[in-house]
Amino acid sequence: MPRPLVAGNWKMNGTAATAVGLTEAVIAATAADADAVQIVLAPPFTALPAVAAALAGSQLRLAAQDMHWLERGAMTGAVSPPMVAEFASHVILGHSERRAHFGETDIDVNRKVHAAIRHGLAPIVCVGETRLQRDEGRTDAVIECQLRLGLGDLGADRSASLAIAYEPVWAIGSNDPCDPDEADRVIGQIRDWLAGAFGDEAGSRARLLYGGSVTSGNAVQYLSRPGIDGALVGGASLDADGFAAIVRAAR
Ligand code: PGA
Repeated sequence: MPRPLVAGNWKMNGTAATAVGLTEAVIAATAADADAVQIVLAPPFTALPAVAAALAGSQLRLAAQDMHWLERGAMTGAVSPPMVAEFASHVILGHSERRAHFGETDIDVNRKVHAAIRHGLAPIVCVGETRLQRDEGRTDAVIECQLRLGLGDLGADRSASLAIAYEPVWAIGSNDPCDPDEADRVIGQIRDWLAGAFGDEAGSRARLLYGGSVTSGNAVQYLSRPGIDGALVGGASLDADGFAAIVRAAR
């Protein structure tokens, strides 16, 4: 059984200065659980160096919230894999906000996943259906497509460091989390897909997370399930004590 993974996606919140304060508060609040749970913080790009310094000597790990797939070049505003890898060990890819607001496709996600692995970054790949897709009964097909395209040409070797976050789009930031039974069912489907694509060992090694309105109040309903290996937490990760309570639930 891999260690559970709880990642805090801070999204576009805070500055480098406030991020250091939050990081220190999270380190203190999670001290008792940092052995048992892999804790990953994903601040904005501009805070990566400062948070990396604040995390030095702790067991917590650092993630970027996105990155480009190219190593360098004429890509105004973009951040490359080597730039991320200078500070972080993980990278969130294919978040639904990137897909919805920045036009990111499954093909882009696939390029980024390959680039992350090439640069030694562990990808946390997000998949999930919209409300309309769910209402039309297309949830499983949408996720299967996101996995097939997003993880295309990966192979068992390169899938070793993968985490997949099931994040129904309608559940993100909505106070309307997915029913835990349904989250467990979809995550089971994702596990089966991974085992089919990359083999049983890879399927059981990948860490599968639930994300979407996870709070300290509901986290245990997801994290107590054997099939759910952790959580990707947005809003509730901005409060150190609330986030620490989610980490405790994972342990
Ligand atoms: P939320 O965000 O916890 O605020 O719903 C989750 C996410 O976007 O990863």
